[in-house]
Amino acid sequence: MNRSIHDIVNQKKQKKISAITSYDYTMASLCDEAGIDLILVGDSAGVVMLGYENTIPVKMRDMCLFTEAVNRATKNAVVVSDLPFRSYNNISQSINNSRRLIASGADAIKIEGGSQITNKIKAITGKGISVMGHIGLQPQTMIHEKRRIRGDTKTEAVSLIEDARLLEKSGVFCIILEMINYEVAKIITNSVEIPTIGIGSGSYCDGQILVIHDMLGLYDKVKFKFVKKYLSLSHDIINAIKMYKNEIEQNEFPSTSNCFSMKQTEYQKLKKLYGVN
Ligand code: KIV
Repeated sequence: MNRSIHDIVNQKKQKKISAITSYDYTMASLCDEAGIDLILVGDSAGVVMLGYENTIPVKMRDMCLFTEAVNRATKNAVVVSDLPFRSYNNISQSINNSRRLIASGADAIKIEGGSQITNKIKAITGKGISVMGHIGLQPQTMIHEKRRIRGDTKTEAVSLIEDARLLEKSGVFCIILEMINYEVAKIITNSVEIPTIGIGSGSYCDGQILVIHDMLGLYDKVKFKFVKKYLSLSHDIINAIKMYKNEIEQNEFPSTSNCFSMKQTEYQKLKKLYGVN
């Protein structure tokens, strides 16, 4: 089944939404084959794919390249692509860059922020582009802040709930809730008609998302309480590469089963020509 934005919206209250990030063809193919509902080409690519300390240096050209690769791999999942830092400074830039991501193969774009960006969201949706919101911890604006859970106080919780309502009114089809206390995420989820997708925001959200490198244990530099590691791939990959190196050094790889050989009659003629035994 080729999922659409409508299918994601209609999933609220029917079936939890499964979402995951991907940035390249191979991973996206595997996620799609596993039946994931939504693939986010997140700007977390800056950290896990490009080796930056945070998402700030990510450029539109990076996001377009990753989106094109994911789009080539995806037959069923909905593909959403992040507008990176400083790619939505004003309304016309927001619209132009959203169009670039859609032209690269995204079904929708994601933009970080609450009440301060509703005018941009209205402008983008006004051009017929589907938008996913993102509130709570917003990696693009927390560079100088400590990474902390959102919604600890009534005041902050109310502001998050109001932001979610405003985003819904602005036309987003779904909202990412990042690192929000589960009680607040529950109220938000019950206050809006559109689905919420949580990351570190508890089980009351309508769906869940994780960064693929975190859940596969591929990127171990930072550890978050909310990440469940389903594999320890970095460990397995290092072991496999060590075995490979060792087999090369011991002349065990390649074996005859990994080699190509010419016809014996031709080989005999060749040996004769060069005087080889
Ligand atoms: O960039 C990203 O991967 C994200 C997710 C963490 C939601 O925004």
